[in-house]
Amino acid sequence: MTDLHSSETGSVIVILGASGDLTARKLIPALFTLRANGYLGERCPVLGVARREKTDESFRNEMHDAVSRHARTGPPTREQWDEFSRRLFYRQQDLGDPDAYAGLRRELDRLASEFGNPRSRIAYMATAPSLFAPAVAAMSAAGMVPDRDSTDVLRVVFEKPFGHDLDSALELTRTLGRMLDEDQIYRIDHYLGKETVQNILLFRFGNAIFEPLLNRSHVDHVQITVAESQGMEGGRAGFYDRTGALRDVLQNHMLQLLCLVAMEPPALFEANHVRDEKLKVLEALRPGSTGSVATWARRGQYTAGSIDDHDVVGYRQEQRVDSGSNRETYVAMKVFVDNWRWAGVPFYLRTGKRLPERVTEIGIQFKHAPLNLFSTVECEGDLCDLVEARPNSLIFRIQPREAILLTFSTKRPGMQYQVHPVTMDFEYRTQFESGLPEAYERLLLDVLRADSTLFTRSDELEAAWRFVTPVLDAWKRDRTCPDFYQAGVWGPKSAASLLESEGRQWRTPKTAS
Ligand code: BG6
Repeated sequence: MTDLHSSETGSVIVILGASGDLTARKLIPALFTLRANGYLGERCPVLGVARREKTDESFRNEMHDAVSRHARTGPPTREQWDEFSRRLFYRQQDLGDPDAYAGLRRELDRLASEFGNPRSRIAYMATAPSLFAPAVAAMSAAGMVPDRDSTDVLRVVFEKPFGHDLDSALELTRTLGRMLDEDQIYRIDHYLGKETVQNILLFRFGNAIFEPLLNRSHVDHVQITVAESQGMEGGRAGFYDRTGALRDVLQNHMLQLLCLVAMEPPALFEANHVRDEKLKVLEALRPGSTGSVATWARRGQYTAGSIDDHDVVGYRQEQRVDSGSNRETYVAMKVFVDNWRWAGVPFYLRTGKRLPERVTEIGIQFKHAPLNLFSTVECEGDLCDLVEARPNSLIFRIQPREAILLTFSTKRPGMQYQVHPVTMDFEYRTQFESGLPEAYERLLLDVLRADSTLFTRSDELEAAWRFVTPVLDAWKRDRTCPDFYQAGVWGPKSAASLLESEGRQWRTPKTAS
């Protein structure tokens, strides 16, 4: 890992597509917080570029509102805002017009000379994916991509989706590869920027006592859940109806989580060593059964229901969704990581919209103790229950109420040996006073200091698409509807049967209290 404050050397940051939601909700608030906390150097001006007509002043005003609403540090003080906005500029440009990029280059050069001549440029592609390749080609034609032997630097950050299946991802990688080197490309998966996600590696490889247990000898199965209670808010339905849960969340965020839980320790904690190990996991991924896709992957779609006592419409009734759409808003699958460590251990993944609550967690369930010495009969009234020691579990609660929890059995105080399950927990909010940094703060800082550890490399991306594309193809061929679930429940019944047939159950995440 590099020096935290290496952005001191300066970079001109240009956001292409700066009138979108991402810029207002994530990028500018993150840059502001970095500046306010001393991580963004004096020599880092920010230029927003988009088609809409705006002046520097009107852009600054809009961004002031955005920062007030979205920066985790709360509304800026006047001093903080003046200090930040002095380096914030806007340029109106049609990003689809290649001829406009010569002017962009001049503008960036002008900003560089005004702010102490930093040699580095960061281009953040917050645009529609269809513009990725044409915009880079236009930057290249305008002389914005430095030669290999130049001391000038250009790093280009891409938001997902990076392709919509294996072929399109390969094509995009090939096209960009003709203009940029891999080390100039930063593919964002914002899950990797989450503090709790980074902590998975530190927890696993910074402690000696857990790692010896994380393998097929001790682990019964692993569950990864990315649940959301939201539906199609924010005008995303058009995008979502072309995308679906498998492409939107499982192909990227969930497979990355799986990699971090399953990977071997890297030889060095350095970008390519970490990514080499993640790649091995992706390459070892196998379907959860040898049967057709339907035997190990399930897709669902929400119907009208209620969440937090609010009635919500079904997916097909959402605005800008086709009333006959078969797009999946839920996916669950059972997969195996076919290597020496994990052979035979099922990993169950599920993600969906309009589930009862927003929660992301990884649950590792260990095997039962070899002998059950302590099962007891507990009676209340006429009802008697056999109470047995439950298997231990280790939970990484990624969000909300970020925590790591370990459950085990204890003796309930009394004259008998009565089993009582308890949880030992580490909760961030009680342990650390300072709040958790936003994912985009960390990721933008890493781009500035040229650390690509938390970004997806092209071969990882390819391996992830190689795994999910046959599922997409099978669903495309299959004309039947997804399995419906009512908004506000934990997915379709068919998803439960993935585990129940094996005597297992989905965990019910508990985040309330
Ligand atoms: C995005 C998806 O990548 O991740 C969204 O496009 C999803 O559909 C979001 O809501 C979830 O991110 P988070 O950080 O809110 O869990």
